[in-house]
Amino acid sequence: MSRNRLAVNLCGIELDNPIIGASGTFGFGAEFARLWDINKIGTFSFKGTTAQPRSGNAQPRVAEAPGGMLNAIGLANPGVEAVIAHELPQMREYFTKPVMANVAGFSIDEYAHVAQALDAQDNVGWLEINISCPNVHDGGKTFADSPQSSAHVCQVVKNVTTKPVIMKLSPNTGREVEIAQACQEAGADALSLINTFVGMRVNLRTGEPILANRTGGVSGPGVFPMAVRMIWDVSHAIDIPIIGIGGVQSAADVIEMMHAGATAVQVGTANLIDPYASLDIINQLPAEMDRYGIDTLESLVKHTPEGQHA
Ligand SMILES: Cc1cc2nc3c(=O)[nH]c(=O)nc-3n(C[C@H](O)[C@H](O)[C@H](O)COP(=O)(O)O)c2cc1C
Repeated sequence: MSRNRLAVNLCGIELDNPIIGASGTFGFGAEFARLWDINKIGTFSFKGTTAQPRSGNAQPRVAEAPGGMLNAIGLANPGVEAVIAHELPQMREYFTKPVMANVAGFSIDEYAHVAQALDAQDNVGWLEINISCPNVHDGGKTFADSPQSSAHVCQVVKNVTTKPVIMKLSPNTGREVEIAQACQEAGADALSLINTFVGMRVNLRTGEPILANRTGGVSGPGVFPMAVRMIWDVSHAIDIPIIGIGGVQSAADVIEMMHAGATAVQVGTANLIDPYASLDIINQLPAEMDRYGIDTLESLVKHTPEGQHA
């Protein structure tokens, strides 16, 4: 059998390729599985899951932007019990690989509860912790805002799971290096970089914000250079793997993020523009690697699976 040039190792679990569907843009995979065999993807991170079901924010909650979009979905999800009772068992029928569970919470206890419940599911490979939720006990500041609160969430989750814990950082703090180091010290196994940038748009006819929530998260190709910069800065300051996220649209973008320090790459908004985007990127990778004389993607990875600089 020929060697898989696209394989990478993420926290001890082998990915057939570094392409991961980003949380909130790949649902629980079912809609994509109707169009193509989603087992071709490295893995995907399912919709951010909270303790209770949530219907999310009022509409309108998405808007277009040059080079991307804004969303203020507000973590609409069926709640962890329904995810365990329905979504995960159903998923086994169309996705046979370990999936990434995206955990959300509005309190430390909620993160612990959701993480512990998902830890017990054998098709969950990693826990990706979205710390961009407002902390209800701290006046609505997000957990991602400070090294202390990010590290606190990380420690609490590490205590209730044996699975790799991936902390998903915000690009809105200006402190991403400090926060990444605090998460590494708190035991994080990897980092996801980045979540969305806070933005807003105004309706020219009314002068009012387009989104009912006023602000939303900016994603898509327009954020790619900022994501690359943050991945570069953080990867030079820590020793754990980074999952690069933000505006990835092509195999060239994947290679660029890996040069910047990513071990794997998530594809988000591109899935909403074209549901075949992730598959196309995987198919383009070998030719793009040949173009730049890259033998294997693993050779680009700066961090070994054990978390040491290569
Ligand atoms: C509609 C939408 C919903 C999202 N929901 C989540 C979520 O539930 N949890 C999460 O961690 N990130 C969520 N994100 C952020 C993405 O996973 C990703 O970090 C971000 O969109 C940047 O990547 P992109 O530019 O490739 O879209 C969402 C993004 C979009 C566009």
